[in-house]
Amino acid sequence: MRVLSGIKPTGRLTLGNYIGSLRNFKAFQNENEVFIFIADLHALTLPIEPDFLRSNTRDLVAFYLAAGLDPKKCVIFKQSSVSAHAELNAILQNFLYMGELSRMTQFKDQSLKMDQNAIGLGLFAYPVLMASDIVLYDSKVVPVGEDQIQHVEITRDLVNRFNNRYGKILVMPEAKVTKVGARIMSLSDPTVKMSKSNEKGDVYLNDSPSVIRKKIMSAVTDSGNEVKFDPENKPGISNLLTIYAAMKNISIIEAESHFKESRYGDFKKAVAEAVLEEIVPFQERYKSILNSSLVEEVLEDGAIRASKVANITLNRVKKTVGLL
Ligand code: TYM
Repeated sequence: MRVLSGIKPTGRLTLGNYIGSLRNFKAFQNENEVFIFIADLHALTLPIEPDFLRSNTRDLVAFYLAAGLDPKKCVIFKQSSVSAHAELNAILQNFLYMGELSRMTQFKDQSLKMDQNAIGLGLFAYPVLMASDIVLYDSKVVPVGEDQIQHVEITRDLVNRFNNRYGKILVMPEAKVTKVGARIMSLSDPTVKMSKSNEKGDVYLNDSPSVIRKKIMSAVTDSGNEVKFDPENKPGISNLLTIYAAMKNISIIEAESHFKESRYGDFKKAVAEAVLEEIVPFQERYKSILNSSLVEEVLEDGAIRASKVANITLNRVKKTVGLL
């Protein structure tokens, strides 16, 4: 089965990215054809400094490898080095409509914060490029966090629309979210998603262990003193329970049962330990990879292998619509 996912190199990766996506990729690589990419064209949809984008890109490759992706078993590549993404985008933009694009949650959230006269077309058309990424590899499974489900759903609409017109040309993808941790919340405000932008509430994957511990220990908790999973009334504690359960690969109910008698302080300590147990060795692998030439080698090889597969689909689509 073909599996595809990507992450935008727009900033420092968070524990949310790690739990909701990065950490889940390696499980697919033994039995599937796995394509994992750096969504660098998507990173341009909001203003970003060239040097920052470059260093984030290198970082992300090192994170992929540190998370256990084996470049011999899967294809790791940069979106911009496979020109088929942009070419397919030019074709598929005719199969999504402005009305449906304007209703996308991510677009609405991001564009609301912007000067309404300076919203880039790329931000608006973001789902078309994402749909191109997905269908280009005949991907059946798309592992993502909860906030990206809507983008996979609109890809499914596009596939239906395209196939209804031309026959069974595009493969229907499906989003796959992790059971525990598809939406990790900010530690400083557990009613909003952990994102790449809030220094205090976000745990960054390259924060030092002491900073990570400190951020978790000062996470906002809720009134009362019971460690209980109740996202509505206890969003802070529920978020920490989710993080703990994800890191320990157990269910939330199981996690809850570990802390029946615990006080908030001891519970937080255990959450920090669970995170550090996995993240510290991950960070060590990341650092040594970043200082080697592996990043460049992986990207070079990945571009060739991804292009081969992508061009087959692109040609199929071009032929179908009458371009060849
Ligand atoms: P991006 O870079 O915003 O996020 C990367 C992945 O991390 C997940 N994620 C989270 N999961 C749990 N809790 C959170 N707080 C959290 N924050 C982020 C996201 O859901 C995502 O899976 N559009 C994509 C990149 C992309 C892509 C694709 C993904 C471009 N083309 C094709 C899959 C297939 C994005 O911006 O992810």
